[in-house]
This record gives sequence, structure tokens and C-alpha cells, in this order.
Amino acid sequence: VHTQVAIVGAGPAGLVLSHLLAEAGIESIVIDRRTREEIESTIRAGILEQNTVELLRRIDPATRVDTVGQRHDGIELRFDGEGHRIDFSALVGRSVWLHPQHEVLKDLLALRLSLGQDIRFGVTADRVDDAESESPRVLATDAEGEPLEIVAGFVVGADGSRSVVRATVSGARDGGYFREYPFAWFGILCEAPPSADELIYSNSAEGFALISQRSPEVQRMYFQCDPDTDPAALDDAEIWRTLQSRVPGTELHEGPIFQRDVLRFRSSVARRLRAGRTALVGDAAHTVPPTGAKGMNLAIADVVLLADALEALFGVSDERPLDSFEERALSRIWKAQHFSWWMTNMLHVAPGASDFDRRRQLGELRSVVESEAGRAYLAEGYTGWPMPGR
Ligand code: DHB
Repeated sequence: VHTQVAIVGAGPAGLVLSHLLAEAGIESIVIDRRTREEIESTIRAGILEQNTVELLRRIDPATRVDTVGQRHDGIELRFDGEGHRIDFSALVGRSVWLHPQHEVLKDLLALRLSLGQDIRFGVTADRVDDAESESPRVLATDAEGEPLEIVAGFVVGADGSRSVVRATVSGARDGGYFREYPFAWFGILCEAPPSADELIYSNSAEGFALISQRSPEVQRMYFQCDPDTDPAALDDAEIWRTLQSRVPGTELHEGPIFQRDVLRFRSSVARRLRAGRTALVGDAAHTVPPTGAKGMNLAIADVVLLADALEALFGVSDERPLDSFEERALSRIWKAQHFSWWMTNMLHVAPGASDFDRRRQLGELRSVVESEAGRAYLAEGYTGWPMPGR
């Protein structure tokens, strides 16, 4: 089959890109190895920056971000047994929205399918050929095991951290810039009312915990654990004991735990984001540790830049925005890498941390919360820097 843009991956990046391209009169085909049901049910991130929310509202009149999602005007940092509110609205006049990624995906899939978008589920990309030519090709295998070849004017890898397209763009599926952390999160979903009005990011001597939410009836909570922890190794009582001990001062509302997982932390940035007529966006291009919730928002920012570049390419044969795509995207990506690294290191307790390390960390936390500039710095990064422009 032929199309203008072949998009590998029907996550937030791929779907938003297909929409922005369609608005500019550019046709695309989106493929994803997963079924629609899998895409709509996988539990991922939960926080949307104001930029992301404004974009979703603009492109989707039926978005449920304001009905199912909830606006949060701040977060709490808790350390040394005390809570400190970071008041986003007062500090930077911006907010974030708690709205699970799979709910965003349900809306985006419904939107794109209602507008006639060609989305093919259960189709696995095997490789990209002729990336440097004017007609790169995606070689894929469909749900029946039959080969599918998509010949396009441009190929986009929005296919997540295990991207197949990355090999074509950056020379290898691995490689690039990479950092591991000695941290992981033990995450749970439970049936209980919220334990606090806003998210609590808590640093305690035993380690970090994050009290988040999903809805009035379902809560998401995490605690720092060893990356090799087996999610099945802890019983519910131990999980609650651990969580409770890490947020002294708050009585957590407990309830049946119906999902548990261990999330490993890594930071990565692909060596290149574009080669000829192929580019990477979202987790295919970079991953960030979860602290600070940048992942999905960064993916959307990549896509805004790339859509603009492709509009210039296909609309008026202007290649300049495409030529500067990588540099402009990387500028935001490295800021987000730093923000996520900073929040992670400021809040987690490193294995083997000395008394000096521990006291220095409390000094850092104090220097942030006791300074309006410090709180505003955190608020700017958390609610999101201005969307990229040309
Ligand atoms: C959630 C995840 C994050 O990484 C974060 O910083 C805040 C909230 C969440 O899943 O709810």
C-alpha cells in the first residue's frame, strides 16, 4: 500500500501525529502490533501538562480530559515528616491534569477512527528500508502472518521504547545516550477513596513514595523498591505497611489491591532522531524515569514539532523545518531528561547513601521549598515549558 506518512505505533504520539497531519491535508497509515483492546487497557502514565490538555481540547471536541480527568493546581513534597505545597497556579499560573493515558488513548482512537483514519492493529513492523530515499518503506507482518509493505513519503517511529524503527534512524536498536538508576517503583492500583486531595511526593529515610490517584474509586500508589523485586513477592499487608511508613503524617485509605507491577528506571536518548525521510518521536526517541511525569507530555511535544516540519515538507516542499527538527526536539528532550533526573535524585534514597548524602538531600529539598524561585522552578518544569515553535 502507498501513503504519504507511515506511522509505526498507535500510542499518544502516533495518534496525535496522524491527527495533526490530517488537519494539514496529509494522509497517513498507522500500524500497531497490539490489538485495540490492549492499547485501551494498558495502565501507563497519569499526568498531563497544561500544554497537552490544551492540544487535546483543541483537536478533540469530545475529549473527556475535563470530565473524567481532574485538574490539579499543585503537589505536595513531603520530607522530614512535613508537607510543603508547591502551588502551581500561584507560582506559574498553570496546572496539570490527572487523566490516565489509556483514557486519552480511548478518546484519540475513537476520534481518528470516526474521521476515517486508516489504523491497522495487530500489524508488526519488521524493518524500514530506503530511509534515505524519497520513498522509504515499512516492511511489516499483519495479524494473519502475511507480509505488508507500506511505501510512504515519510516514516515515523512512534513505536515505543523497544522501537523497531530506531535501528534505521540511529544505526542500532540500542546505543545512544543511556543511564540506569538503582531505583524502581513498586506500583499498585487499589479500590479505595483518595487519601489526599493532591499528589504527595514523599522522601523518607526508608525511601520514596508517591501517592497518586486514578479516580474517586481507584488509587495509584508507588514506593521505591529494589529493581530486582518480584511484584508477587509482597503480600498486601506488607505493601500497605511499606507505603504507610513512607508517608508519615497521612493515614492512607487502604482497599483491595487489584494490580501490582515493578517499574524500572532508565534514561535514554537515541543518537539520532532523523535519518533522511524517517524520524523518531516519543519513547522510541527517548525514555525518562517516571518521577515528574514527563514521558507522555514529551512525546506530544515531539509530535507538534514533527507535524509542523512534515506540513512544510509535503505542503510547500520546504525542508528547513525538517532539517532543524532534531535540534529543536533535543533541546526540550534534554531539559526533560534533566528535570526527571533531578526529581528522581532529589526524592529517592540511593542504596548505600551516607549520612552526608542524606543530610545534603534534605538541604536540597529545603532549598527548593523555602525559596519562591525554587518552587517556581519546579512548577515550571512540572506543568510544562511552552510548546515548541518554529
Ligand atoms: C503518576 C506517575 C508519575 O510518574 C508521576 O510523577 C505522577 C503520577 C501516576 O501514574 O499517577
